[in-house]
Amino acid sequence: MKVLVTGSNGLLGQKLLYKLKEDKSIDLIATSLGKNRVTNTKGYSYIKLDITNKKKLTEVIGSNNPDVVINTAAMTNVDICEDKKQDCESLNVTAVSYLADACLENDVHLIHISTDFIFDGEDGPYKEDDKPNPLSYYGLSKLKSEEILYKHDVRWTILRTIIVFGVAENLSKSNIVLWAKAALEKGEQLNIIDDQYRAPTLAEDLADACILAAKKKAYGIYNTSGKDIMSIYEMVERIGKHYGLDITNLNKISTSKLNQKAKRPPRTGFILDKANSILDYNPHSFEESLSIITRQLN
Ligand SMILES: NC(=O)c1ccc[n+]([C@@H]2O[C@H](COP(=O)([O-])OP(=O)(O)OC[C@H]3O[C@@H](n4cnc5c(N)ncnc54)[C@H](OP(=O)(O)O)[C@@H]3O)[C@@H](O)[C@H]2O)c1
Repeated sequence: MKVLVTGSNGLLGQKLLYKLKEDKSIDLIATSLGKNRVTNTKGYSYIKLDITNKKKLTEVIGSNNPDVVINTAAMTNVDICEDKKQDCESLNVTAVSYLADACLENDVHLIHISTDFIFDGEDGPYKEDDKPNPLSYYGLSKLKSEEILYKHDVRWTILRTIIVFGVAENLSKSNIVLWAKAALEKGEQLNIIDDQYRAPTLAEDLADACILAAKKKAYGIYNTSGKDIMSIYEMVERIGKHYGLDITNLNKISTSKLNQKAKRPPRTGFILDKANSILDYNPHSFEESLSIITRQLN
């Protein structure tokens, strides 16, 4: 099987790259914006690819003829999406239509990643067929990207996920576990919201979901987050306790105190039954994930 990954410099992209390059039955093409920032360059080829460039994207997919494209490239900073709506639209929505067209033309299965932010968080945890109602432009852009696929003739899988965390090199942004661990180690006063609930996802688990979907050529929407739902405050508290750090400087605050640009859904989390039974998706618990991170940091 030949697999092409977009956004391979990102967190999910790097996890896919490391897992897929070890599988000798897979021919891997990694692509991302700019040069390859992954230091281990063996076992795959790399092509610089901006997926908003329709001509280049169509040419790369046409000339490499993969069986599966996994699209991990996205504008993922929710507040920046609120400020830069056009850039967000171009990468999170329009580029997905370019990908779908190029994949259809070349008979390629397209795997795309979406988010819990397509929901308003009034009645999570959510099933795949619950009604979306995004509160932010990021959430809306991801919903629009899903809607492109619903109507398209390309073979597609949508994997929805929630707060992805993990260790990778030269990332352009941090993630909750690495950030909280570093801040607690410094003994900083931390004001953490306790009125938003999420199911954080180990990046390796999400990469496994992508690979399972690719191998099964699964069709449709799947919830593929972590399995433990908790408030953001509890998340940081559990990170601190797991790593044996002092959590006396942790303070609970409410979302209204934060003044964030984009609105966030209060309570998400996913029901994972469909992915469990059809994809054999079986994510780690939050504490198991934190132990995996310890081993990687060591
Ligand atoms: N992270 C989360 O908490 C979360 C939650 C729910 C859903 N998701 C979804 O999961 C997917 C993967 O997220 P992630 O955390 O791995 O994201 P990420 O770390 O931000 O990676 C995205 C990658 O895409 C690259 N990229 C940016 N613009 C591009 C372009 N025009 N063409 C090609 N590549 C481009 C970025 O390059 P640079 O590194 O140079 O910026 C980055 O390496 C995304 O679809 C995201 O929306 C993520």
